[in-house]
Amino acid sequence: MEKNDKRGYDSKYKNKTSKLYKSKDIHELMLFFEKDNQPFYLGGTTKGYIRRLAIQRIVDDCKMNHMDPAEVTVLDAGCGLGALSVYLAAHRFNMVGVDISDEAVKSCEETARKFGLENKCKFIATSLENIPIADDSIDYIIGHGALHHFIKYEKVPAEFHRVMKDRAKGYFADGFGENKLYHLFHDKKEMEELGDATLTRKLVYQYFRDFEVHLLPTDWFVMLDKLFLKIIPAKQRGLIRKLSSIHFKLDRKINTNSVTLYLSGAVLTEIINHKDTASTRFFQVVENLN
Ligand SMILES: C[S@@+](CC[C@H](N)C(=O)[O-])C[C@H]1O[C@@H](n2cnc3c(N)ncnc32)[C@H](O)[C@@H]1O
Repeated sequence: MEKNDKRGYDSKYKNKTSKLYKSKDIHELMLFFEKDNQPFYLGGTTKGYIRRLAIQRIVDDCKMNHMDPAEVTVLDAGCGLGALSVYLAAHRFNMVGVDISDEAVKSCEETARKFGLENKCKFIATSLENIPIADDSIDYIIGHGALHHFIKYEKVPAEFHRVMKDRAKGYFADGFGENKLYHLFHDKKEMEELGDATLTRKLVYQYFRDFEVHLLPTDWFVMLDKLFLKIIPAKQRGLIRKLSSIHFKLDRKINTNSVTLYLSGAVLTEIINHKDTASTRFFQVVENLN
């Protein structure tokens, strides 16, 4: 793959800003983002909850290891318009947002500047295959809706391995293609144009074969939200959210096993970097996230 092959990402982002940009101040931005991260039945988006789980893992891990966010560097892989980076910067993390699109990065910088967070966020327009930052400089990687895009770039895991500290962790929140309903809601034409992939267990394990990998599937029925949004008129959104509350609660009761894995609508992929890669091949496990 050519380094400058952007596969149409620039045109997707031209003249766009994150919807957080409209917030009047940083407090409004934080509230707005947190509402987005709520389960769908509580007013969030259908994608927000899995992002919240990724954030929570990093926050909890920092607490457990007595790490002050102000001393922690997080790489936002495929940062898009930068909402996640700006939000985490507002929580005092030092952010490095990387996106292949110059247009996206321009917009990220504008948003960070507007909220006075430009010193906590560094945005870089480059492919994740070549990140111009020092070896062993990253404590965590986070990616929202990004792994299924950059997974087509084979050199990215080696680059993650280089920039991550020993035992550093990465969390990638995505839809999961083992769930057959997933395929109903994805624009096949756009997927083909962008060359993005449908995540499966095999694909994820193969891609991150030199890392310890934990696959954390969740939201067995999340695709029902999307189905209801498609078939029930938009003015009935209240009813759709009510229906969602039922299956969200049911979801919490389901444990991961070889059958339910194939129903999961979303997955959080956790990777742990071991500088001594020889020891990691045995760590590919599916765990329960609910
Ligand atoms: C669906 S968007 C997700 C954006 C953002 N994380 C969010 O939650 O809104 C996927 C992003 O991955 C970026 N991307 C795809 N391949 C990449 C690569 N090789 N290196 C860096 N970014 C890449 C795209 O430009 C796009 O912004």
